[in-house]
Amino acid sequence: MIIHHDNIKSELCELIIDKFDELNEQQIISQRTNDDIRIFGFEKVLDKNIVDLFFDIDNKASIKFFKKKPVYQTLMVNKTFVPFDKLSLGSGSGWHRDSYIERQMKTIYYLTKVNIENGPFTYLEPKLKIFSRFYPMKARLSENVDNRLSFCSNKISMTSEKPGLGFSIITNYIHRGIPITKNVRYAIQVYSGLYKKLDFIEDLKIKL
Ligand SMILES: [Fe+2]
Repeated sequence: MIIHHDNIKSELCELIIDKFDELNEQQIISQRTNDDIRIFGFEKVLDKNIVDLFFDIDNKASIKFFKKKPVYQTLMVNKTFVPFDKLSLGSGSGWHRDSYIERQMKTIYYLTKVNIENGPFTYLEPKLKIFSRFYPMKARLSENVDNRLSFCSNKISMTSEKPGLGFSIITNYIHRGIPITKNVRYAIQVYSGLYKKLDFIEDLKIKL
């Protein structure tokens, strides 16, 4: 359910963060909540060789997971931070599956160091195959699902002492970003559609 990648270089992380900050300063963003700012369509502002690097890695992971390349890919960069009111659910707003029905994966690279305080991607890995990726049969799960499912799953947080950690993961499994209590987290993610263009994401892309 997870494939680990080689880290991307810290210079590349800085370049992407600088671009994000530049766009954010000009208010060219797709979405904002109290703890998260997102820019969809980031491929519009990166060099083709950088975009291809991310898309190729995502393609290879998709072939490994689903024996098929996605027909649609786009890049999203987000900055997650401590909200003023301290009421944060973290990236993805709590425990969830990206989809219950359609097969779904994501390729994620952290652009900053990520420890338990600044929002690590965390997932529940079934201990046995019989629990499969469909247990329990819900897309949105409660705050304490990690405790309730501890008998059949391991909770794994992806942390890194260096910027640039990357992985691809099947997001039909239960996952979330842990709420940030300190610093910020920047990440770049490949959003892909295995069978079709994702219209709701098309609409979120920045216009330049
Ligand atoms: Fe998700």
